[in-house]
Amino acid sequence: MKDLRPLLEQARRDHLYRSPRVLESPQQPEVRVDGKPMLSFCSNDYLGLAADERVARAFRAGIDRWGSGSGAAHLVTGHSRAHQQLEQELAEFTGRERALLFSSGYMANLAVITTLLGRGDTVVQDRLDHASLVDGARLSGARLLRFAHADLDAAKAQLGKATGEKLLAVDGVFSMDGDLADLPALAELCRKQDAWLMVDDAHGLGVLGAHGGGSLAHWRLDAQQAPVLMGTLGKAFGTAGAFVSGSEALIETLIQKARTYIFTTALPAAVAEATRASLKIIQQESWRRERLGELVEKFREAAIALDFELPPSPTPIQPLIAGSAATVLNWSSKLAEQGILVTAIRPPTVPKDTARLRITFSASHTDAQLQRLLNALERLRP
Ligand SMILES: Cc1ncc(COP(=O)(O)O)c(C=O)c1O
Repeated sequence: MKDLRPLLEQARRDHLYRSPRVLESPQQPEVRVDGKPMLSFCSNDYLGLAADERVARAFRAGIDRWGSGSGAAHLVTGHSRAHQQLEQELAEFTGRERALLFSSGYMANLAVITTLLGRGDTVVQDRLDHASLVDGARLSGARLLRFAHADLDAAKAQLGKATGEKLLAVDGVFSMDGDLADLPALAELCRKQDAWLMVDDAHGLGVLGAHGGGSLAHWRLDAQQAPVLMGTLGKAFGTAGAFVSGSEALIETLIQKARTYIFTTALPAAVAEATRASLKIIQQESWRRERLGELVEKFREAAIALDFELPPSPTPIQPLIAGSAATVLNWSSKLAEQGILVTAIRPPTVPKDTARLRITFSASHTDAQLQRLLNALERLRP
């Protein structure tokens, strides 16, 4: 058996060692972490729903109605009326024939790619796509062709080389950079090459588009142009799980074939009830998206004035590029000393030499909290 300790020691020497912090409060701007009060700017709870009382109430009512566990996979006896209603509501929300729930976005991405593609087929991806899309491609046995981030000519060239069934998978909003994929242009490339376009909208749903419809609503693309949509529920929705939405035939095919759907226990029905409550809030409370827009605008203006390198991101994901893992760790710990929590993001999550602070905003952040962040950043000024 191999000795694992040298590997761990090497990770420490490379400033790449990671450990989870222990949260002792609900997920909200003011948190308690490892015994200390901190102001957090690193959760994906963009709309401030993870600790919303109405969502929590629906969760509790769901437990009273359905109990704690779903007890089985969807195709055994795990699929409750609550799951079914949420699937219908998500299909309507995304303007597609059907939606199918998964226990996580990671599993949903594996499901789509391994179901639609196999040996002899080709998956084309942006280099900054989420790890779960890359893993889906690997697991499918299809050929994976990647293109430089946001480079449409390179995407076209890779699609031109594709053989067999073709699928282009892309993040709608890039998780570590916050920029948007040019979905209309990619949809057009896919149409010309008869390829599926799959959009992973983990960071767009709830945040972009009228009523929070996400990247596809933002770009006004329909189900024909982008036939596969994957959305996660653990971010703007404030609960957990994920879904794929698309045509009746796509969803039925996933039900028959996707191993990460078939061979796993369904999410608790109470999570589905909580998510139904957050879906209503997402659609009705546009002020949450407007508030995010204000925070992002104020933050960018101030951070640029402080001379930080800030890639162009219109979303609540605002990366401050530090470069090396050592520098970003130093920034993150200096912020922590001032009571500000922003996790250092290092390779392999982001490419080498692009380690960064990934600052994220929530509609619940106040102007005073934003100012505290800016004051702390001023002391780090590059
Ligand atoms: C772009 C993207 N896709 C998929 C996932 C996976 O979703 P989940 O956390 O539900 O597994 C994430 C983040 O976790 C993500 O950022």
